[in-house]
Amino acid sequence: MKQKPFTLPSKKTILVTGGAGFIGSNLCEVLLKNDNSVRCLDNFATGKVSNIEPLLDDSNFELIEGDIRDLTTCINAASSTDFILHQAALGSVPRSIKDPITSNEVNISGFLNMLTAAKEAGVKRFVYAASSSTYGDSKEMPKIEDRIGKPLSPYAVTKYVNELYADVFNKTYGLNTIGLRYFNVFGRKQDPNGAYAAVIPKFVMQLMRHESPTINGDGSFSRDFTYIDNVIEMNIRAMMSEDKNALNTVYNVAFGERTNLNQLVDLLKQYLSKFDENILNVEVKHGPNRLGDVPHSLASIEKAKRLLGYDPRFDINQGLKNAVDWYWNNL
Ligand SMILES: NC(=O)c1ccc[n+]([C@@H]2O[C@H](COP(=O)([O-])OP(=O)(O)OC[C@H]3O[C@@H](n4cnc5c(N)ncnc54)[C@H](O)[C@@H]3O)[C@@H](O)[C@H]2O)c1
Repeated sequence: MKQKPFTLPSKKTILVTGGAGFIGSNLCEVLLKNDNSVRCLDNFATGKVSNIEPLLDDSNFELIEGDIRDLTTCINAASSTDFILHQAALGSVPRSIKDPITSNEVNISGFLNMLTAAKEAGVKRFVYAASSSTYGDSKEMPKIEDRIGKPLSPYAVTKYVNELYADVFNKTYGLNTIGLRYFNVFGRKQDPNGAYAAVIPKFVMQLMRHESPTINGDGSFSRDFTYIDNVIEMNIRAMMSEDKNALNTVYNVAFGERTNLNQLVDLLKQYLSKFDENILNVEVKHGPNRLGDVPHSLASIEKAKRLLGYDPRFDINQGLKNAVDWYWNNL
């Protein structure tokens, strides 16, 4: 089936913060391909040069190595830009539980710096990475944008505060913003290493090495896993929408289906067995549930469809197949 068309920006100057990270580097790549000037601001806290290596020779790409906790850096990076796609933050619920102070400094003070820089630069739009963690302890499913619960982690607090600040910057300074509540994004370039690695790249790497992945809990917890290309689509639609009613609000960014952890591992084994059939025999371990984890997460994507024309092309099966191919060829 044909996707509802959307227009990519062209010949614009776009700042992508966190542009050396998983989502940010994918955004930089797509925007550069369409003849934009792309500025990437990143301090490499979790981002990697290898994510942007192929872009460094492009005369339309500028890397600014700097920290969003420094206002002057943000102001310089934002000057003369048309759009800002703000992705820089410290992700991970467990990281924020271990060190809430640093998560707060980067995700809240850094965010406020970027909003201030966006206002000073007079950008057309500030599109930012919000998070499904904002639904917190709400048991309602599917999650609908205007019905949230109480946050369950310092990370969730920071992402909720981002939404509050964005709203206030619109009301008080007229800055146009759109918040994108990402639901468990996965795909090429997502880091499989480190204590705070996301579940899909971590499990792929372990299965490729015939190591047993450990599922936290009995595997019944479920997520609305979202392939990177759907996230790129939403960033572009958020940036380009001409509809005033679509601005200064937040959207779920998801596929709108949920998969539990046991099903996820089965799918990964199945798709990886195309390269190495012994992966089918790797056993799974189960550990305790993780503090701050919500049992189930499923998004309604009705608002994004209605106001931004969102039409995600990649379901979990197609997304995982693409991701597994990429990891097999790049790890
Ligand atoms: N991946 C997901 O499933 C998911 C879900 C919800 C929300 N998000 C949000 O999406 C955004 C991108 O996440 P990601 O998965 O690409 O993570 P990532 O860690 O790969 O990317 C984050 C980038 O921000 C950079 N960064 C961190 N602190 C910085 C600082 N002080 N100054 C400048 N740069 C800094 C990192 O170096 C990294 O390149 C984040 O805001 C994250 O909270 C991601």
